[in-house]
Amino acid sequence: MNYKIAVLKGDGIGPEIVDEAIKVLNAVGEKFGHEFEYTEALIGGAAIDAVGEGLPQETLDICHASDAVLLGAVGGPKWDDLPGDKRPEKALLGIRQDLGLFANLRPAIMFDQLKDACPLKPEKVEGGLDIMMVRELTGGIYFGERGYIDENTAYDTEKYSVYEIERIARVAFDLAMKRDKKVTSVDKANVLETSRLWRKTVERIHAEEYPEVELDHYYVDNAAMQLMKSPKQFDVVLTGNMFGDILSDEASQIAGSLGMLPSASLATGNFGMYEPSHGSAPKYTGLNVSNPIATIMSAQMMLKYSFGLNEEADAVENAIKKALDQYRTRDIMAEGMTLCSTSEMGDRIAELILA
Ligand code: IPM
Ligand code: MN
Repeated sequence: MNYKIAVLKGDGIGPEIVDEAIKVLNAVGEKFGHEFEYTEALIGGAAIDAVGEGLPQETLDICHASDAVLLGAVGGPKWDDLPGDKRPEKALLGIRQDLGLFANLRPAIMFDQLKDACPLKPEKVEGGLDIMMVRELTGGIYFGERGYIDENTAYDTEKYSVYEIERIARVAFDLAMKRDKKVTSVDKANVLETSRLWRKTVERIHAEEYPEVELDHYYVDNAAMQLMKSPKQFDVVLTGNMFGDILSDEASQIAGSLGMLPSASLATGNFGMYEPSHGSAPKYTGLNVSNPIATIMSAQMMLKYSFGLNEEADAVENAIKKALDQYRTRDIMAEGMTLCSTSEMGDRIAELILA
């Protein structure tokens, strides 16, 4: 099969880590007989510098004409002083909205190979951890009305409709049905009106459509605490945009390093955008030391969620695990292991796929 992928390398370490994901996809193509066709487009600071805006229409057109999008990272100190609506981060929010990517999947998996890198006590993570964070991505306070009332007072608003809550709840319940059939919905229903609507809607979708799934509701403060106290209780975590942003960074530590956490941002249908959960790490730019695995795992999620290539996705995951038996980038280096660069990690994983 032939698949069209829009490639948005972005800023900082974005280009180096995306190159490794492409290397791995090409190995998959060679091994399984697929053709991946890449079209590069500008986003973020790189786009601001080249054409004066973070999210050029041409980039959106290329994404719309593709089967999936592979993204590196955006942002950096060079563009930090721009006003809010001109910053590279705004381009990321804009592309999520334009492409309708309402469901953000962030799996926090502790690979056995990396259990020493997890900061939690071994008895808390005994037998491994596999949590799927499901974050609503195109609503809530990120996209609500905002502004200044006067020069001393600013505001942002949180807004959710039943429709938005229903569709993200279904994504979480569908995933749970294929996993341990457990969803923990996170809100702040003791304080926020949007959270009370969230809870009521999630309960109704559960009762009407997914009675087999076990459903819990946690307030967000408690959820943050429980993630550290007893992470094994979680299977699928369902959250709004802002709470999911915060809790997914917290959950990343379970994987040992933010450099291991991939993400998939999905629209209705099979279209999706795939990017590491970490940022552009400006100070490591061009040094060939960053961990490309979060981006490679994101490409693995693309194979699975957008292309339905499950065997291929498993091959990538197995190659990553095998590579980790011996090779480590700096962020996950451990005694007895061989330190490797960004590109060497990509080489090892690609070789293991072809082996
Ligand atoms: C993320 C990032 C973004 C977000 C920023 C860069 C806008 O932190 O993808 O988690 O807050 O969604
Ligand atoms: Mn974040």
